[in-house]
Amino acid sequence: MRVDLHFTPSNTDELGLRESTVVVIDVLRASTTIAMALYNGAKEIIPVASIERAVKISGSLFGEYVLRGGERHGKMIEGFNLGNSPAEYTEEKVKGKSIIFSTTNGSFAIDKARFAGELLVCAFVNVGTVASFMKENRRDLTIICAGTNGMFSVEDAVCAGMLVQRLSSDKTLTLDLSDGALGALTLHKAFGKGILKMIKSSEHGRYLTEIGFESDLEVCAGVDTIPVLPRMAGNVIKWKRDVEKKETAKVQVSS
Ligand code: MLT
Repeated sequence: MRVDLHFTPSNTDELGLRESTVVVIDVLRASTTIAMALYNGAKEIIPVASIERAVKISGSLFGEYVLRGGERHGKMIEGFNLGNSPAEYTEEKVKGKSIIFSTTNGSFAIDKARFAGELLVCAFVNVGTVASFMKENRRDLTIICAGTNGMFSVEDAVCAGMLVQRLSSDKTLTLDLSDGALGALTLHKAFGKGILKMIKSSEHGRYLTEIGFESDLEVCAGVDTIPVLPRMAGNVIKWKRDVEKKETAKVQVSS
């Protein structure tokens, strides 16, 4: 299995990913929030790159079955129902809802990867679930770290390294690591035993603390605490479990 890694989505060749399995990582906080929302019963996440697009597609169901979530500069967007704190996405608020989701870097990275053959969303909270999927899938993998405003983010790179490390512990897999994947693995070796400390000292972690979101860092530092597999299906992200259920139902109906 070839493992490529982009430390930011800036130079990602969108159409070049058509045949690839892509994992998008935005630990602080989009990937963690998407995992939490799906875990708490959100029907789907609809990632959009701009606020204008989020408002445009909300339609007449806005507020009832459709919510808008996301941030700019870390804070909730005017006219939205939810910000980008994973803890906001409770069962009470999101169960059964479609969430139109726009964040600065995470949604941008997902948007860049939208033509991928298979697109998964990963953070520390669900890294084991993503690794298990990849061990079965066994396809070449491209990891795209969201980064921050086009720059490298240490927390995304360490999470990517943890994913590579989980894959490399499967001795039935032969990995062909790009230099990026090798670098992430090395960063994981350096910081993997102190995830919360690393997140707290990261640039974006310090910014979130400054604007009052320190408690989010603990949620985002949890490893395998939210075992979901967010997977793009058409233009929306669903928990893969839902897709599996539908596939099983289809087989039962047609047999
Ligand atoms: C982003 O997508 O840029 C992040 O999720 C920002 C944040 O921490 O809200």
